Amino acid sequence: MDRIRIGGGRRLEGIIPISGAKNAALPLMIASILSRETLTLHNVPRLSDVRLLMRILGNHGVDAAISGKRIGQSEESGETITLSARDIVDTTAPYELVSRMRASFWVVAPLLARMGEARVSLPGGCAIGTRPVDLLLMALEKLGAQIEIDAGYVVAKAPRGLRGGEIDFPKVTVGGTHIALMAASLARGTTVIKNAAREPEVADLADCLIKMGARIEGAGTSEIVIDGVSRLDGAHHHVLPDRIETGTYAMAVAMTGGNVLLEGARRDLLSSAFDVLEKAGVTVLEEKNGVRIIREGTPLLPVDVTTEPFPGFPTDLQAQFMALMTRANGDSMVHETIFENRFMHVQELARLGARISLDGDKAFIKGNSRLTGAPVMATDLRASVSLVIAGLAAEGDTLVNRVYHLDRGFEALEKKLGRCGADIERISGEK
Ligand code: EPZ
Repeated sequence: MDRIRIGGGRRLEGIIPISGAKNAALPLMIASILSRETLTLHNVPRLSDVRLLMRILGNHGVDAAISGKRIGQSEESGETITLSARDIVDTTAPYELVSRMRASFWVVAPLLARMGEARVSLPGGCAIGTRPVDLLLMALEKLGAQIEIDAGYVVAKAPRGLRGGEIDFPKVTVGGTHIALMAASLARGTTVIKNAAREPEVADLADCLIKMGARIEGAGTSEIVIDGVSRLDGAHHHVLPDRIETGTYAMAVAMTGGNVLLEGARRDLLSSAFDVLEKAGVTVLEEKNGVRIIREGTPLLPVDVTTEPFPGFPTDLQAQFMALMTRANGDSMVHETIFENRFMHVQELARLGARISLDGDKAFIKGNSRLTGAPVMATDLRASVSLVIAGLAAEGDTLVNRVYHLDRGFEALEKKLGRCGADIERISGEK
């Protein structure tokens, strides 16, 4: 298995191109099931999760192809993927695939909306919390689906098609909002989604569905209204920039000090985290081509954060921020309100010298910690990248194991950081 070695202590300077968002690309790819026509997605990140989802969609009969590079495209330009679901050949999503990527459970919605049936494995356990799918199933039931659980599978049926309804989520759920949007787009009549997730990735999915012919209003707000249509067409859509990758590299620069342009990044997708970084003494400048992050000699100040649904501070940046706060010149606190078990990185950060104590859903971080390199590993991709950030500031070498987690969500991580002066390399499994 590959590992990443990081020699700490180098400042970062240069340009980091931001890739298309993983968490937008995945639901967009799944939406291709809704139409017989071709959906072309541009700026898709090169990630193992994208490759795996292509295989999963292929099982259902979706022809997925990666187009060749166009003239002038650099390695980081993102890929163009075409997805054609002319004929759905199988409405079952098996355990072996769904258990490898939770988001693939979302195929239940377009399969049900288009074919009137779906048999999709329950995703099973997860490293960051229990992550039930009760609200997703509730949403489909509100649209007239009959749902049963059979031998670990969700069996959803709507023999006469889905019909519009009111879905009032008791808790904000990104996946729940994605599947409600997809299902309601092909349901008969009007659907109102209340307490909808306002994440930019939800609005991006809605934008794409609208290009395919869906009638959706209010995406990006907490109430979305969808008038169902009988069929959807093909479309071309450009995946929006990855705000979590953006925030991760912003924290890396804050950690080491330096001056880096995050090319293609948008401040409006990540205002809360940029506000927090400014409070921590980091300079955040909006420029024509992206967002520039600067910290030159100024101390890092401690800031407390609470994770919240968008537009609040994202849970997907919590681990990275915690790593950063170990080097602040005072103590801080992180309150995780989205997932109940998302502190698995704490013990690994401790191996690098971090002093963090846990009390339920709160982590208390001692600042001014001296970090020293060590071998570490993590259980999910955001936790893994928090170890990379800590390694960039640690004395000596840090070896991050289980790099496959990073490959799920960070495109060309070691190249992007290496080009800005980080001492970082991938060591392939054989060595
Ligand atoms: C999405 O997961 C993201 N995944 C996650 O990113 C992200 O952390 C999360 O949203 C929150 O922002 C993708 O987009 C592929 P939720 P999702 O439904 O949709 C509870 C990453 O690292 N809940 O918004 O699965 C749930 O347990 C990943 O890229 C129910 O109780 O998250 C959680 O506490 C990790 N019942 C809360 O809602 C349900 O039926 C929010 O989860 C569904 C969710």
